[in-house]
Amino acid sequence: MTQDELKLASARAAVDYIAPHLETGSIIGIGTGSTANFFIDHLSGIKGKFDGAVASSEASAERLKSHGIPVYELNCVDSIQFYVDGTDEVNPTLELIKGGGAALTREKIVAACADLFICIADESKWVETLGAFPLPVEVIPMARALVARELVKLGGDPVYRQGVITDNGNAILDVYNLKIHQPIDLEETINNITGVVTNGIFARRPADLLLLSTGTGVKNIT
Ligand code: A5P
Repeated sequence: MTQDELKLASARAAVDYIAPHLETGSIIGIGTGSTANFFIDHLSGIKGKFDGAVASSEASAERLKSHGIPVYELNCVDSIQFYVDGTDEVNPTLELIKGGGAALTREKIVAACADLFICIADESKWVETLGAFPLPVEVIPMARALVARELVKLGGDPVYRQGVITDNGNAILDVYNLKIHQPIDLEETINNITGVVTNGIFARRPADLLLLSTGTGVKNIT
């Protein structure tokens, strides 16, 4: 199977997983990226079964609207039943690195509101230790050099993602060569650097369920 076929399989599995639990009034949180796009496309097939969605990016909001799925502001909904999103890395305790698509901050906010966070991924995203994928850090633009110096002190090699402005108007630093053995601690340490909006470690709020697509089927991992 190609990587896209694997992504599609995990996205379909997520729709199959949530469909029996949806009811009038249900709101679904939607991630960002190519796997999330497969999920949005497949979700459109059951759009009568839920009320609408909250998107983690302008791109996902546009895609949802193109399918006729109502998109709500997060501040206007009481609860989010499921948050479904892809990832850049996932470890055995379902801690993640996200933000390859620069949407990490809104993804983390929507995930924090969800009753259940379902991660959908192909098997290439599975790692024992987070950190081979460069860690995205969203920063206030005027603090970029300050934050970069602090990240070097933590042992990383930050690289400015040229030409990228997040949906929040900020910049991204991608931090190479971090071995993330204590994800919860490092998530907090980096978030405490002045000028950081958030970083792409999802450890304080890991996924609750991973639908990991492999050549022999989709595994449910909790
Ligand atoms: C977006 O900022 C990211 O967190 C994506 O969820 C992540 O990069 C996974 O993207 P793909 O599904 O395209 O691999």
